[in-house]
Amino acid sequence: MSKKNIFITGVTGSIGRELIRVFLERTEDNLFLLVRPKASDSHEERISKLLAKLGINGKSVGRIRVFAGDVAQGRLGLSERDWKVASGESDEFYHIAALTNLGASREEAEKINLQGTIHALELAREAHQKGRLGRFFYFSTAYVAGSLTNIHSLEDELPEGPVFGNHYEATKFLAEQKVREEMAEGLPAAIFRPSIVVGDSARGAVSEFNVIYPFLRLFAHGLLKRLPSRLDHSFNIVPIDFVVEASFHISRQRDCLKKTFHLVTENPPTLDLLLQVKEELGDFPPVEVIPPEDFLVEDLDPREKEVFSSLKPYLGYLGSSLTFDTRNTRKTLEGSRIPFPNTDRFFLKKIVDYALEKGYFLRKV
Ligand SMILES: NC(=O)c1ccc[n+]([C@@H]2O[C@H](COP(=O)([O-])OP(=O)(O)OC[C@H]3O[C@@H](n4cnc5c(N)ncnc54)[C@H](OP(=O)(O)O)[C@@H]3O)[C@@H](O)[C@H]2O)c1
Repeated sequence: MSKKNIFITGVTGSIGRELIRVFLERTEDNLFLLVRPKASDSHEERISKLLAKLGINGKSVGRIRVFAGDVAQGRLGLSERDWKVASGESDEFYHIAALTNLGASREEAEKINLQGTIHALELAREAHQKGRLGRFFYFSTAYVAGSLTNIHSLEDELPEGPVFGNHYEATKFLAEQKVREEMAEGLPAAIFRPSIVVGDSARGAVSEFNVIYPFLRLFAHGLLKRLPSRLDHSFNIVPIDFVVEASFHISRQRDCLKKTFHLVTENPPTLDLLLQVKEELGDFPPVEVIPPEDFLVEDLDPREKEVFSSLKPYLGYLGSSLTFDTRNTRKTLEGSRIPFPNTDRFFLKKIVDYALEKGYFLRKV
């Protein structure tokens, strides 16, 4: 197999770091990693520390080249020299970086998610025009459909009139729209849309407790006594290993371009099941699920009101009737030995158990 140069953003995040592990272990490709320097560590130091943490050393480290950059900046914040290398020598581009904080302001989310993607597309377009770049992969989210929308969301289109639960979803929608426009203009691209990424299917292990975990911690601390939802509503979680394995496999298929892939579970657990697992796993305070039309913020005590207002951007994830089409993903994974994840009671127990084992629920809210 020939050696390619793969340009990747967002590698210090939970999905990106697992994807570079797969590239280093299973390919001979060179990796061009765009990383933000921090006040404490340079871009190179950040990658050295990350590789040490992932247990990656030896020869494969020589295949990595780290570029200082910031996707929110024009030309991705790359130096003239690095832009030239990236646009002249990249064969594939994985744009993974994003601001995933669901409570972020519109301005912050737009800068990184929308502008960041516009800047990534500029590089991809130039690299493609130079005759080098053959594939651009964009990590979107299943929630471009809007976590408060009540539809069956299709893979190959963006829904009309989505009801967003937060600025993250709204700006990821706009960013995906840009990728689609560019794809229609001829950029060879494909889009991955994971749902809510949680721990791995073997142990429930996760590098960052984000997105749904802070919610679970509020249950554990008894700070969430009442929830506007329905017991039969489901929440779409997906183990990280499925997202990484499926995106890696799909990206290597000849016919993956111009398509969108929902990386989701086909059997999302219900809120009822989550509450049953909570009962089984420990002595957690009770939670009352109230139909949204009967839920009145005025009934909450002052502390609950405070918690509830900070939770608003998350509410759509814990119980909704949004469902996802998986035809492209299912077809492309056929014969791959990558099954759709089973997110049943046992899996839920694993992810809660892992967080318990790591003392996550004891951490201060
Ligand atoms: N996790 C989920 O549940 C989920 C679900 C659906 C879709 N997705 C999508 O999948 C992708 C990866 O998600 P994740 O969970 O791995 O995210 P994450 O853990 O929050 O990591 C985000 C990554 O983006 C980088 N980044 C943020 N702003 C940047 C900037 N201005 N310049 C350069 N890099 C920047 C971060 O770098 P620093 O280390 O410098 O901050 C980090 O590497 C995102 O596009 C996200 O929208 C995630």
